[in-house]
Amino acid sequence: MKFTAVTIFPEYFAPLNLSLIGKAIEREALSFETIDLREFATGNHRSVDDSPYGGGAGMVMSPEPWGAAIDNVLAKNEGEIDLIFPTPAGKVFNQRIAESLSNSNHLVFACGRYEGIDARVVEFYRTNPRIRLHEISIGDYVINGGEGATLVMIEAIARLIPGVIGNPESLLEESHNEIGELEYPVYTKPATWRGLPVPEVLLSGNHGAIENWRKEAARKRKEGQDRRE
Ligand code: ADE
Repeated sequence: MKFTAVTIFPEYFAPLNLSLIGKAIEREALSFETIDLREFATGNHRSVDDSPYGGGAGMVMSPEPWGAAIDNVLAKNEGEIDLIFPTPAGKVFNQRIAESLSNSNHLVFACGRYEGIDARVVEFYRTNPRIRLHEISIGDYVINGGEGATLVMIEAIARLIPGVIGNPESLLEESHNEIGELEYPVYTKPATWRGLPVPEVLLSGNHGAIENWRKEAARKRKEGQDRRE
């Protein structure tokens, strides 16, 4: 699986070299590249934005550099791509979408900034037969650009790719798995910490009882006991 991020801030993605995803990149279980949008901008100032038609606050990203950068991705790669536009106006990201995207060969993230990318860019590429286009939001709030949203999505997607996580069983047990359960609470040593004991059943060695306790604890969490605002 290949990940490409088109961005004016390639440095934003440095954290991907850390931890499990960094190791997976080293092992070539996946690859990641950034494309600097500014390299596709023309003119003395290599400007990538302009004021909005119709007036209003802020700046809009110009279609020309985006068109040139996405054309370049299509020319340099074979086959189909999933082209993702992170935007607060998109479909809200969840585990099902992460699973579906983890089956792609090539995910390309178009990281907009300012008030967004000229709407004709999405309109233009939506009908390209080599592109499956997705507009995705990471939640109902606004952040400063698509880079942060792209990092979140890459973290969620990359760990589902075979060989990225050491123990694939942990994918089955954790929160938001296929049956929609939230994860049960977990404990490690010491058995008592600041007067708080670990639930006794977990020390019993009775695997059936432990499984039942965990199911019940996960169910209680789902009921909202621990998730009230
Ligand atoms: N860009 C700005 N806010 C965003 C959000 N919530 N999701 C995805 N991209 C964004």
